[in-house]
Amino acid sequence: MDATLRKIIAELNEAAAEHDATRPDRLDRWRVLEPDAGEFLWFLAQSVAARIVVEVGTSRGVSTLWLADAARAVGGHVLSLDSDAEAQRLARRTVTDAGLADRVEFRVEDGGAALARMPDGSVDLLFLDAERVEYPSWWPHPLRVLRQGGVLVADNALSHPEEIAPLRDLLLRDPRLTVTTINVGKGELVALRR
Ligand SMILES: C[S@@+](CC[C@H](N)C(=O)[O-])C[C@H]1O[C@@H](n2cnc3c(N)ncnc32)[C@H](O)[C@@H]1O
Repeated sequence: MDATLRKIIAELNEAAAEHDATRPDRLDRWRVLEPDAGEFLWFLAQSVAARIVVEVGTSRGVSTLWLADAARAVGGHVLSLDSDAEAQRLARRTVTDAGLADRVEFRVEDGGAALARMPDGSVDLLFLDAERVEYPSWWPHPLRVLRQGGVLVADNALSHPEEIAPLRDLLLRDPRLTVTTINVGKGELVALRR
């Protein structure tokens, strides 16, 4: 990742911290990905040569930038889904300014509905960063769409363990998966489909 993109991400993280500090309601906050978690996601995406990346929860596009840069490195693309059109409008502008517009498709859509329509094994990396309690209701699609050797990552595994527990249990129950939690940012729950 070049220095310009790192600077754009750092500025967005700073702006998000300032913005979120003035918003008492959680849902009014941007809640963007922390830098160390972004670095982890960026590295992981390249490690599994993730050419088809799907993220649920664009917000202002911090994770989108990390994922799009990783996708560019391996000749891939990111589909970024969010139910909030205004958030995506701003994220699209940032991604365009960062020179990554050709790597990202933004779609205003519910994550669960979008995953349900995707073909089996069509996704290399799925990043879940939306409303955590909804993920189990999306089953089996988050796993069904993952190719062999692909990874699912869910944010907030350590900041909200009780909300992530039902997802973690579903993953641990599946013998095709290797599951762990990485202590970066707010905690990344990671499942590798062997
Ligand atoms: C924690 S923020 C995402 C932060 C973003 N990944 C980043 O690093 O900048 C969560 C986002 O998920 C979106 N969201 C919540 N439920 C959703 C759903 N069912 N489908 C799609 N997006 C959803 C919200 O509108 C919000 O913008």
